[in-house]
Amino acid sequence: MTIVMPLYSLVNRIGAMALEVASEPSPQAHFELLQMIDQLRSAVETPTETVLCLIYQPPQNAALRTVIELGIFAVLVEKRHRETGVSATQLAEYTGADPDLIVRLMRVMTALGLCSLSSEAYVASEKTVALTQPIGRDGIPCIYDLTVPTLSKLPEYLRSHDYAKPQEYTHSPMKWAVGQSQFEWLGSNQQQQTLFNSYMASRREGRPMCFNTYPVERLLGHAVPFEDTVFLVNIGGNQGHDLRNFRREYGHLPGKLTLQDLPSVIEGVSSRDAGVQVMGYSFLGPQPVKGARVYYFRAIFHDWPDDICQQILRTTVSAMAQDYSRIIIVDFVLSDTKPPLMQASLDIQMMSIGAGVERSEGQWRDLLHSAGLRIAGIWNQSPGMESVIEAVPITT
Ligand SMILES: C[S@@+](CC[C@H](N)C(=O)[O-])C[C@H]1O[C@@H](n2cnc3c(N)ncnc32)[C@H](O)[C@@H]1O
Repeated sequence: MTIVMPLYSLVNRIGAMALEVASEPSPQAHFELLQMIDQLRSAVETPTETVLCLIYQPPQNAALRTVIELGIFAVLVEKRHRETGVSATQLAEYTGADPDLIVRLMRVMTALGLCSLSSEAYVASEKTVALTQPIGRDGIPCIYDLTVPTLSKLPEYLRSHDYAKPQEYTHSPMKWAVGQSQFEWLGSNQQQQTLFNSYMASRREGRPMCFNTYPVERLLGHAVPFEDTVFLVNIGGNQGHDLRNFRREYGHLPGKLTLQDLPSVIEGVSSRDAGVQVMGYSFLGPQPVKGARVYYFRAIFHDWPDDICQQILRTTVSAMAQDYSRIIIVDFVLSDTKPPLMQASLDIQMMSIGAGVERSEGQWRDLLHSAGLRIAGIWNQSPGMESVIEAVPITT
């Protein structure tokens, strides 16, 4: 009886929240509904079941990585197979894999809800479709290959380093486990770099842009730039996906847009195609673009430990025009009390592949202060999403 009443009230709250999400969808309501569903599952599951679920996560990821590599999801979503599905025997013919192996791998996929099994044929769902698009097709193998060899050795790394927190990019757990940290590894694996770039461009599709969260009018007013000055520099902007979106919505704003990333990453991105100035540049060196209205960093600082973040911020501050330029950072601001599992997990991943950190508001304040900056505002649409931090020099 004691368990039934809270469950019953939780189910009612979920029902009410589901109605709210259907009638007035918002990132906040969507996040709360997912949180409640997780709570419900946790309330129903026995402790033993919870532990067993945790124990058997690694084989799920390995099976998923293999199914993607075999191109099975791509076969399932083909138009001719969408209604009828595809049998294990057919999948074995398409892929060259053993039919029994296909059955064993696909048991995991159907149990994960990534497709279904009907009359001995595997049938695609909208989740299967997502697994054939860049976010799944490229993101899953890239992040698996980038992280799993290191994560599988992380306990050993931490034990052998007396449980000190990793603080140096050049001595990260990944460097210890596989010989290179994140960006050197990507730079020396062209195929992985291509998958990474594609994943970067895809992973926020369909979600609000940070400039829908941040009040862009703060950048206008008396300080509108001239046509020939730089309005926004996207530092570490990969191949320009964010700038393309920005240009689509705010192309009417005066001033130029500049994309900066490592030369090997922006190779092949032409200024003409991108509609922006493209610049090969390492943000560890002096910032060549002086006096821009905005220095924009998305998903950059979480890759790095504090000392390198300070270096990047200081070179940016040196390039800023007084009382005019500002820094806009898009990254997670971790809740001190209840960070979502995805953000807490990403923190461990970032720590592993480059001694990076997902930071709390206090950590952001300390980091920015140490580089001569103060936070002018933080905007967020939902605790599940990245926040937008505006920072200005302390003297401004
Ligand atoms: C996590 S990705 C974020 C990409 C993009 N800002 C986004 O949010 O989708 C980090 C980016 O930093 C770039 N990067 C890494 N080291 C760099 C350096 N020293 N100078 C400039 N860019 C660098 C990487 O190539 C990559 O594109």
